[in-house]
Amino acid sequence: MNGTRGTLIAFEGGDRAGKSTQAKQALQWIRETLREPAVLWHFPNRHSATGRLLDTYLSGSTELTGQVAHLLFAANRWERVEELWQLLDSGSHVILDRYAYSGVAFSVAARGLDPEWCLAADRGLPSPDLVLFLDLDPQLASKRGNFGEERYEQLVIQQRVRQFFLDRLFQSENWVRISAEQPPDQVQLQCRRAITEMLPRVRSLPLKLLW
Ligand code: TMP
Ligand code: MG
Repeated sequence: MNGTRGTLIAFEGGDRAGKSTQAKQALQWIRETLREPAVLWHFPNRHSATGRLLDTYLSGSTELTGQVAHLLFAANRWERVEELWQLLDSGSHVILDRYAYSGVAFSVAARGLDPEWCLAADRGLPSPDLVLFLDLDPQLASKRGNFGEERYEQLVIQQRVRQFFLDRLFQSENWVRISAEQPPDQVQLQCRRAITEMLPRVRSLPLKLLW
């Protein structure tokens, strides 16, 4: 590597907005067109001990208090933070399919937790250089395939999540809102444009920390 750090790019939004598809295409584009190393991580990471428990929570077979669920989601990120710093330091971009923003938005919207209490659990994690907020009207999301499969896939919850994203989180300059109502190719073009614009601007700057 040539001494430049990798960047941290987060995809955020409600369920069924197309984040995973868009994140995968962005990964491929960075690797093949920009020819730079990149990895894609999904949170929650369902393969670790915390993630396996969260998986049963999300499928509805385990009950947890809101606080315990929130702290597990945060722990699920913290347990990978050293690896995350190493990747970024080594020059690899890291694309995140959900991050701490989902953590706070869902815990507030679905479990009624206090926002400030929620934010504290993720304080000190690396702060993304760019957040691509894929915005989709929950009414439309609810008509997409498999909506309703998991615990938080309910219209009222998704509406509150969206409001929280827009009112509380969508305020910093590194957030870009992209309408996920457009055809997927258009969404991808806008993601690429935002990444292209971000790269030269942030690379010589150190990463910040949340929040
Ligand atoms: P997924 O569909 O992206 O795998 O995410 C599963 C659900 O978990 C989704 O409804 C959002 C929710 N979630 C939280 O409640 N807290 C978190 O910290 C994260 C990452 C996701
Ligand atoms: Mg989901």
